[in-house]
Amino acid sequence: VIAFFQPKVLRGKRIVITAGPTFEPIDPVRGITNRSSGKMGFAIARAAREAGADVHLVAGPVALPTPRGVLRTDVGTAQQMLDAVQSSVPGSDVFIAVAAVADWRVDGVADQKLKKTGDSDVPSLSFVQNPDILATVARLPNRPYCVGFAAESEQLESFGEAKRQRKNIPLLAGNLGPSTFGQDDNEIILFDAQGMTRLPRADKLALARQLVAAIAARLPG
Ligand code: CTP
Ligand code: CA
Repeated sequence: VIAFFQPKVLRGKRIVITAGPTFEPIDPVRGITNRSSGKMGFAIARAAREAGADVHLVAGPVALPTPRGVLRTDVGTAQQMLDAVQSSVPGSDVFIAVAAVADWRVDGVADQKLKKTGDSDVPSLSFVQNPDILATVARLPNRPYCVGFAAESEQLESFGEAKRQRKNIPLLAGNLGPSTFGQDDNEIILFDAQGMTRLPRADKLALARQLVAAIAARLPG
């Protein structure tokens, strides 16, 4: 009902959104992942759709229903997320990277399940760095308007702006974890070239709608 009254500030825009964690296998039955419920990314996809956008949501493993009218692609690893994003981003107007992408994947994933042997025998894992999906999109010659997310455990105000500049993106939404992970509400600081804008504690859909309005107001043309 509320959606009916949302102004269609993103009408005609095509938006690609990543959400949720990635899952990086160790062997066929084990893996490493990040803490992310996907709730914030899915709320943004819903809000963008309500605002009239054509939304493609690239989701890691999460237990959430697809927002109405949103095209969804499910992926596992960071590399799969990058592949899905790279095939969708050309011609899009906005890219919002909400996913908690694993920074590292296991080097040399075992073909078969690692077996527990002696009492003190533990496997040692080595890692390689995953591609940075947001930085890859931000480097494209015809890049869409790029929005990043940052979950920090401390010093949000300084880390947030530093990360926005390092990633070379116009807008970054920062929040503090882990207290907000999996919760239905959150509190966000938006960082752009003009400075910080605080979005006070609210449920994730309300924040998503504010973020969508902030993006629409910053789009060129
Ligand atoms: N991101 C991404 N691909 C990665 C890592 C991060 O697209 N391999 C995106 C996230 O979706 C988010 C932004 O980059 O929008 C910031 O992620 P974050 O993990 O906070 O930044 P990092 O550069 O990985 O720095 P940190 O060392 O703090 O993890
Ligand atoms: Ca990271």
